[in-house]
Amino acid sequence: MAASDPIRVQFVCLGNICRSPLAEAVFRDRVAQAGLDEHFDIESSGTGDWHVGDGADRRMRETAQKHGLSLEEHTASQFTARDLEEYDHVFAMDKDNLHDILYFDEDDEHSGKVRLFREFDPEPGDYQVPDPYHGGREGFERVYSIVDRTSEKLLERLIEEHDLDAASA
Ligand code: 4NP
Repeated sequence: MAASDPIRVQFVCLGNICRSPLAEAVFRDRVAQAGLDEHFDIESSGTGDWHVGDGADRRMRETAQKHGLSLEEHTASQFTARDLEEYDHVFAMDKDNLHDILYFDEDDEHSGKVRLFREFDPEPGDYQVPDPYHGGREGFERVYSIVDRTSEKLLERLIEEHDLDAASA
């Protein structure tokens, strides 16, 4: 990899309107705080197509806002086989997402770069970020806590893996 090539990271959930847009925003914020913006290309998507073109879920936007992050610019997109080729790291929010992502990996060429996001959570539970869509407000706060603490550890790991110098990671 050339020194100028960004590390391409994609977060994937089902609809790309709740969990993965939040993970994208939280991780991007941590990368910016560490002074590493130019080293990363950060995106998110969903395995389903129902919400393609939509903004983030209102409840997720409000939760993000409460924690000083904006999801107002987000537009939902669907994960593609090309994403699997082009991204260096793909982080699935739950096991269904992981399964659906690996469906594109017919020749088992990319499985090494696809991981469950909560592998990096110091309190991983069942290793899945619970889908908050059909539940109440507290589910969205819970997703925020999981995503926040996991993103911190994930960035530490990627800094190590890619031998980066962080200002304050
Ligand atoms: P997300 O949440 O995968 O975290 O974006 C969901 C959004 C929409 C639906 C399910 C989960 N849905 O069934 O439309």
